[in-house]
Amino acid sequence: MVEIVPYHHKYLEEVCQLIKKDLSEPYSKYVYRYFVHQWPEYSFVALLDGQMVGAVISKQDIHRGQSLRGYIAMLAVKDSHRGKGIATLLTKASLNVMIEKGAQEIVLETEVDNDAAMYFYERLGFCRYKRLFRYYLNGTDAFRYILYP
Ligand SMILES: CC(C)(COP(=O)(O)OP(=O)(O)OC[C@H]1O[C@@H](n2cnc3c(N)ncnc32)[C@H](O)[C@@H]1OP(=O)(O)O)[C@@H](O)C(=O)NCCC(=O)NCCS
Repeated sequence: MVEIVPYHHKYLEEVCQLIKKDLSEPYSKYVYRYFVHQWPEYSFVALLDGQMVGAVISKQDIHRGQSLRGYIAMLAVKDSHRGKGIATLLTKASLNVMIEKGAQEIVLETEVDNDAAMYFYERLGFCRYKRLFRYYLNGTDAFRYILYP
């Protein structure tokens, strides 16, 4: 049985390893700390029999002095546990907190060749609205997605 629990620093190492394996961007521990120290309430991990099998790292703040914007920075599920709705549970947990706290828009980026992520976010109602050229350090473009709650 999968449990979605608030992020805790004891998961830092495992979450870093998980995301490092699946995303091209080389995030350092300081990046995770930047998110979870300032906005601890928006990040979650998925536990299966006590083992960490997925995580979402998010934040929410005012964008350009105008709108309250939620942002999903990283999301990953262990490949052995994909296709079971775990990323959906994680993302909904984070979205629910954003919406409760008054999010006016929620955004994220994904690599343009990450079909699984694009299907995943579109199924949750996100719309693609920008292409960001050479957004990632490896030179790949990103699509930015947005959801109006
Ligand atoms: C994208 C990712 C988080 C999805 O995790 P998951 O737990 O398998 O997702 P879910 O089981 O909740 O999937 C929900 C829906 O997303 C879509 N989806 C998920 N993976 C998909 C895939 N490989 N191909 C097509 N659609 C996919 C499907 O519509 C799926 O619904 P269905 O099972 O009813 O068809 C996972 O593949 C992953 O960790 N990828 C590597 C990291 C990454 O790319 N993160 C996102 C970019 S920041």
